[in-house]
Amino acid sequence: MKATAIAHTNIALIKYWGKRDKTLILPANSSLSMTLDQFYTETTVEWSDAFMTDQFTLNGSRIEDTKVTRFLTILRQQFGMTEKAHVTSTNHVPTAAGLASSASAFAALALAASKAAGREDDDETLSRLARLGSGSASRSIFGDFALWQKGTDDTGIDSYAYPVVAPTELDLAMVVAVVDAGPKKIDSRLGMQSTVETSPYFEAWTATAEKDLLTIQDAFKANDFKIIGETVERNALSMHATTMAATPPFSYLKPASFAIMETVHALRENGIEAYFTMDAGPNVKVLCLTKDEQQVQTALASHTDQVYICHPGPKARVIAHD
Ligand code: DP6
Repeated sequence: MKATAIAHTNIALIKYWGKRDKTLILPANSSLSMTLDQFYTETTVEWSDAFMTDQFTLNGSRIEDTKVTRFLTILRQQFGMTEKAHVTSTNHVPTAAGLASSASAFAALALAASKAAGREDDDETLSRLARLGSGSASRSIFGDFALWQKGTDDTGIDSYAYPVVAPTELDLAMVVAVVDAGPKKIDSRLGMQSTVETSPYFEAWTATAEKDLLTIQDAFKANDFKIIGETVERNALSMHATTMAATPPFSYLKPASFAIMETVHALRENGIEAYFTMDAGPNVKVLCLTKDEQQVQTALASHTDQVYICHPGPKARVIAHD
């Protein structure tokens, strides 16, 4: 009853920011992401009735993680099992890059746990399961580009991700600039919750995000990189605006994040199509075409020595099992 799986991180081009149901992790809006080839989590799960407790080891150290423990309890309920689990995870991200993500973590855990339980869950089921660990993990079951539909049902049965067709004529890259590898001050789950409860901009955000999602899907089909990029950038800034209007107000962005945004605008003025996005931290990810990735990297390297060029990555997969 043991299996090992790998899942890659994903970066949302249209963000998930806000839940309509905290327990089932049902989002207020649908989102769309690119899975990255460079960063992933490898996780081994072993279920056994000989284990007295669940155990979680991350990067070689035993840790108590309430999100993982809670998720294992959910998985037991879903699988109709009583066995405890030993979970061993390694984050394959550059050392101290601050890019370890709950998306790759819970996607790898869901897949390894399912396989180790002897199940043959399809991708839709795995995405739904991963969602119960962390919302963005629903998208890391898939490679390339994935859309997490918010769903309408209260049970969460129709809230899962599925692959979307990449723009056929565009070779996309995402250049990641790490400006601060330290731990986040405000965890995304708490930040999201505070935004939902207190930000007067929250309703406007969900309406905008749904529109942005339609716009970017049309732009994917039309291979229109300008519209894709402008939508990505506007969507990220709209999300960050909601946090600045929350009570108490907060922001994940740092002076270095704004300096990089300026550099991205300067690149565009010089004819290089590059567009930024930021998540629940100060790092900036820049979407561009592969033909321009080196120039983007060089420009970002003036701000930080940690710049990584990523491309669309593979879907989650099992690499070993009993
Ligand atoms: C800003 O998926 O980490 O990265 O569902 O509470 O675990 P929980 O949140 P999480 O939030 C991700 C937020 C984001 C945007 C995104 O990935 O869509």
